[in-house]
Parts: sequence; structure tokens; C-alpha cells
Amino acid sequence: MQVYLNGAYVNSEDAKVSVGDRGFVFGDGVYEVTRVVNGKFFRENEHLARLREGLAGLKIHVKDSVLEQIPEISRELIKRNHHTEGEAAVYLQVTRGSAWPRTHTFPDPPVKPTVYLSSSPFTPHTRLHQTGVDAITVSDIRWTRCNLKTVNLLPNTLAKQQAKDAGVNSAIMIRDGVVTESPNANIFGVKNGALYTFPATNYILNGITRQAVLEVAEDLEIPVYFNPIRLDELFDIDELFFSGTTTDIQPVTVIDGKPIGSSQPGPIVKSIQKGYNKLLYT
Ligand SMILES: Cc1ncc(COP(=O)(O)O)c(C=O)c1O
Repeated sequence: MQVYLNGAYVNSEDAKVSVGDRGFVFGDGVYEVTRVVNGKFFRENEHLARLREGLAGLKIHVKDSVLEQIPEISRELIKRNHHTEGEAAVYLQVTRGSAWPRTHTFPDPPVKPTVYLSSSPFTPHTRLHQTGVDAITVSDIRWTRCNLKTVNLLPNTLAKQQAKDAGVNSAIMIRDGVVTESPNANIFGVKNGALYTFPATNYILNGITRQAVLEVAEDLEIPVYFNPIRLDELFDIDELFFSGTTTDIQPVTVIDGKPIGSSQPGPIVKSIQKGYNKLLYT
């Protein structure tokens, strides 16, 4: 497998990043994951726009000329790795770069950011989209800049591991008594035919898939309320589902061992899945 690192295509085992890299030392970087279907990048411009927002949020300065090369690099990468047919995912990570000695403040003068891309084959979780998944509620222990897609994913990995240890698929994160998101997806609830989701504030990542779901909902004339679901009303809702680049639209049928609605994927999530698949695959 070939990866792209700082201007060169190299075999993945030969790709080396310095121990002084601030991504390694401080988690000082951002990332994006983009789906690719038969060589077509899904919502690429939206991912690139969010990447720019993340870089601006962390004050990492990457030259426009470098950012503008990303679509071309991504295409070259999937060509080299034979991912131009079928499904693939392209991972992109940018860190502030490598600096020595270790100091919390940014390197002065600034160093060259580390730019890394890889591609891998992707298999959608088709069976789980049909059956739905189970989850547990966990405390959302993240910081208050969750709108930035940073590589600081420790609260997310801890929550996902907690779910795995509990023998379930994923976690529903709760902050101040309301549902925010899952460790790697946004969350929608359904009540009386309407969608409810956490507003796009600094407490969630405004998912590209979430935005596609909103488009599908508008198309289907499904009302959307940007109101968070309270923990005390979670078990009264009719349906719940995750949305994410690698999750797609995934019904959640059981939470903390208790059924959501009929404990089967409901009609609204099925219609959203259909609309989303149309966007992704055509
Ligand atoms: C915390 C979190 N929320 C939401 C999402 C979904 O975002 P997207 O639809 O852009 O993949 C992700 C994806 O990785 C995520 O990590």
C-alpha cells in the first residue's frame, strides 16, 4: 500500500514521522475521512472546507497551494492503490509539524505542517444497517471544541472501548443531561415522524453525513428540530440512528439493554437510508 507523506508517495512501511511531530506529542492536528465509490469522492468539497475550518481553529497554517493539491493527491493515491473501483476510504491528516525542543507554545518561526494521506478498501456495514445496533449511554467527557475534527480522540476511543467491553456496538454520549453524539457519528432521534438532533454548535462535530441527512429529510418533507434529545426522554422516542462517513445511516434499536421504539429499524430511518444511498451511490 502506498501513502502520501509530505510531498512523496511511499510504501506505508517506509512512511516515517518524526518523534518531534506535534501530532505525536500533543495530538496537535486535524483529520478527515472521505468515502470513495468507484473513484468518485463523496462530498469532497465539504470535507475540504471542514479541513480548512479545523486548521483555522487550531491556527495551523498550510499554504493554499498545498491544500489545493489534495484532490489531485487523493486521486493519484487511489490509482496507485487500485482503489478506483468499488468502495474505498481516503484518510487525511495534517499536524502542526515537527518541532524540537518540546514546548506547548507553537514553534516560532512556524515549521512545515505534516501532511499525510492514505487510502484503504472499505466495506459498508450493510448487515448492521438492516438489523440495527445496540449501544450504551456514556458520559461525554470531551472538551468544548468538538466542532473541530482533531486527532485528539481519546474520549472517543475510551467510549468506544467501554461499549466494546459492555458487549455492544457503540456509545451514546451524554453531556448535561442531553444526547450529543456517538464517538464516531452524529445522532438523530425520531418522534411522531419528525427528526430531532443536536444543533451544530461547538459541542458536536457537524458531520458531512449529518448534513446529507438534513438534505434528504428536506427532500422527503420530514420536519427537523435542532433540539437535543434529553436523556429522560430517550426511551420514549420512536427511532434513533447514527450518521457518519464510515457508519452511513445506522439504526440504533437497543440502548442500555432497553428497546428503542419497536426495537427494529423504523420507517423513517429506512427512508433516510434510501435517500442517503441514492446520494452516495449515484
Ligand atoms: C465525533 C464524530 N461525530 C460525527 C462524525 C460524523 O461525521 P462525518 O459524517 O463527517 O463522517 C464523526 C466522524 O468521524 C465523528 O468522529
